[in-house]
Amino acid sequence: MSRYVRKDANYRRAKAEGLRSRAAYKLEELDRRLSLLARGFRVVDLGCWPGAWLQVAAARVGPKGRVVGLDLKIADPLPEPNIVILEGDVGDEAIAKQVALALGGPADLVLSDLAPNLSGVREADATRHANLVRIAAERARQWLRPSGIFVAKLFMDAEYEETVRYLRAGFGTVRTLKLEGTRPGSSELYVCTRKPRPLGRD
Ligand SMILES: C[S@@+](CC[C@H](N)C(=O)[O-])C[C@H]1O[C@@H](n2cnc3c(N)ncnc32)[C@H](O)[C@@H]1O
Repeated sequence: MSRYVRKDANYRRAKAEGLRSRAAYKLEELDRRLSLLARGFRVVDLGCWPGAWLQVAAARVGPKGRVVGLDLKIADPLPEPNIVILEGDVGDEAIAKQVALALGGPADLVLSDLAPNLSGVREADATRHANLVRIAAERARQWLRPSGIFVAKLFMDAEYEETVRYLRAGFGTVRTLKLEGTRPGSSELYVCTRKPRPLGRD
């Protein structure tokens, strides 16, 4: 099947299922392979617009759980009462405090699907993305419970090795994986890190 046919099929499926985008299937696959989400979990979704990951996470954590989404662009409201959507920059300290407040306790899982607007200059884009992952990782270490999990989108680019090294310094375990639905030739992969080391002990 060509990638365009597959992309179209997933797009139509997402529409039919009332999901905001086909990105939903990426989180479903991550959850299936890594057992990320559970009833009652507190979850942060960084780079949540338009909201497909919010929908998947909210259904999995159920009414006793909570999902707090953050993005530079405000996502349209979703009907699930366990979703809180915040607008802002992941690098902003005041926003980080708002996320912590909205969580109402330590997070079980922090997700980052953050991606910068691309300039088209490959090295500059890689640097900007790597910076976002680092900020997200520091936020995760701030919000997570000691056995919590941080998952982030990465690209196999000039910054990849350095980013994984950075994550190894901040977390006890680091595992990367490529999703089955990733189109051939794509450099996208995800990293799953566990056992965050407390901040200030680096
Ligand atoms: C690939 S999209 C996320 C899609 C989302 N996972 C979903 O399920 O619909 C990446 C998002 O990262 C956001 N983003 C980029 N830089 C950011 C920043 N500094 N702070 C917050 N969000 C940011 C972008 O606005 C964009 O909406």
